Amino acid sequence: MGEPSRLVDEVVKPGRAAAPPPLAAPPPSAAPPPSAEPPPSAEPAPVAAPARRASGLQGAASGYGQPPAAAELLRFRERLERTARELSHDYDELLGRLRTAEPAAPGPTISFARGAPSLDIVDVTGLREAAVRAFESDPAGTTAYGTSVGYPRLRAWIADRHGVEPERVLVTNGSMQADAFLFELLVQPGDEVVVERPTYDRTLLSLRTRGARLRAIDLLPDGIDTEALARLLGDRRGSRPKLAHVIPNFQNPAGYTLSLPRREALLALAAQYGFTVFEDDPYVALRFSGESLPTMLSIDPDRVVYASSFSKTVCPGVRVGYLVGPADVIAAIAQLATGTYISPSMVAQAIVYEFCASGAIERSIETVRGALGERGRALAEALRRELPDAEFVPPEGGYFMWVTLPAGTDVAELERASGELGVSFVKGTDFMLEGGENALRLAYAGVTPAQIDEGVSRLAAAYRSLV
Ligand SMILES: Cc1ncc(COP(=O)(O)O)c(C=O)c1O
Repeated sequence: MGEPSRLVDEVVKPGRAAAPPPLAAPPPSAAPPPSAEPPPSAEPAPVAAPARRASGLQGAASGYGQPPAAAELLRFRERLERTARELSHDYDELLGRLRTAEPAAPGPTISFARGAPSLDIVDVTGLREAAVRAFESDPAGTTAYGTSVGYPRLRAWIADRHGVEPERVLVTNGSMQADAFLFELLVQPGDEVVVERPTYDRTLLSLRTRGARLRAIDLLPDGIDTEALARLLGDRRGSRPKLAHVIPNFQNPAGYTLSLPRREALLALAAQYGFTVFEDDPYVALRFSGESLPTMLSIDPDRVVYASSFSKTVCPGVRVGYLVGPADVIAAIAQLATGTYISPSMVAQAIVYEFCASGAIERSIETVRGALGERGRALAEALRRELPDAEFVPPEGGYFMWVTLPAGTDVAELERASGELGVSFVKGTDFMLEGGENALRLAYAGVTPAQIDEGVSRLAAAYRSLV
C-alpha cells in the first residue's frame, strides 16, 4: 500500500541530456576534398594528417651523399619530436570528439506521461480573438471580482448545455478545484468513499489527505464492477459510503467507458444505500468512435454531482471547470468558494464564454477529436506491431490507454529502462492503493503519430532489455 508516488498531469520530465554538439569542423588543412564528403549518416571522417609534418632529413639523411652534420641531426631529431607531439595531440583530440559523440543519443524524450494536449491542437488564434471580444463586449464583468459561482454568462451557457437551472451550476478554476470543494463539503475524516481501481491519482491523494476510508472497486472494460460493489454494500458488516467517485467516459487512467447498464446499476445502488455519485467527466466531449451515452446527471439529477472541464476542449492553461448538482449543494459550495478565493478568474471565464458563444468550441472539439482518434489508432497499431505482449482495450475517446504486461513484469524497472532510451509513461501503481505492478498508462494526447511510432519502438526495446 503506498501513496501515489507522483502526480502526473503537469509532470514534464527533464529532457534527456542534449545531443552532443556535432563534431567541430576539422582544421582547414584536414578538410577532406569536396568529393570525399561523407553521407550524413556516415561515421565522422578521421582527421587527415595535419599538413605541418616534418619534411624528411634533407640530403644525407636520405642515405645518399654526404653524412649530415651533428647540428643538422639534432635539428632533425627536434622536428621529429615536435611532429610526434603534434600527432599525438591530434589523436587525443579526435578520440575526445568521438567519445563525446557516443553513444548515439536517442533524441528528446517522448512523453506518454503527460495528460495534456500538444500545442498544435489548441486554437490559440480563436482564444486570442475570444479574449479581445471579452474585454470589448463586457469590460466591467471581465475585470471585476465577480461572484463565487462564476462568470454569469458562462454559468448560464453551461446550464443551458446540461438543461438545468443556472442555480445548479458553479464555475471553478479547473475541475480539480471543483473536486476539492465537493470533497471538502461531503467527506469528513473516516467517511467511506468508493473509488475505481485504478483511478486518477490526484483523486486518490486528495481523498486520502482528507482522511477518507477508500473502498476501491475494480474497473472493468465497461466500467466499475457494479456487481462487486453490490456485494460490498450488501454485506451486513459492509460498506456505507457517503460518496462514489466515478470517471464515466474514457477513464483516467484506463480509457474505459461505463456502459449504460452499469450507469443504471450504480444509480440504483446509490438510491438504495443513500450515497451521492460524483460523476467526474472531463473527457465526455472527446469521443472519436462509438455512441455517446447519457450522463448519470441527466438520469438522476438529485443523486449525482457532476464535474467537467474546459481543459480538454479549450486548453488546460485557461483553468476553467465546473460543477452541476443539487441547488443546495451548489449554494454550500459557493460559500466555501467565497472563503477560499472570493471568486474564480472572471477574465479566464469571460474568454471561455466568448469562445463557446462564438461556436469556436465546436470547431476546437472537432480538431481535438480528430487528432485523438488518429493518435489512439496509431498507438494501438504500434503496440500490436512492436510489443505483442501488451494487452489493452483500444479506447473510443479521451487521452489514455491502459496497458497490461505479462504477470511478473516489473514496470518500475521498465520505467527506468525506458527513461534511458528516451520515453516516459506513468506506472500502474501510481493509480492504485495496491497492485498494478505490471501495468502502465500511456497518454497519447500530447504526441504525434510519428512520435508514437518512435516512442513505442523505444518502449519495446526497453521491454526486451528486461527479459
Ligand atoms: C478525471 C479527472 N478529473 C479532473 C481532472 C482535472 O482537470 P482540470 O484541468 O479541469 O482541473 C483531470 C485532469 O486530468 C482528470 O483526468
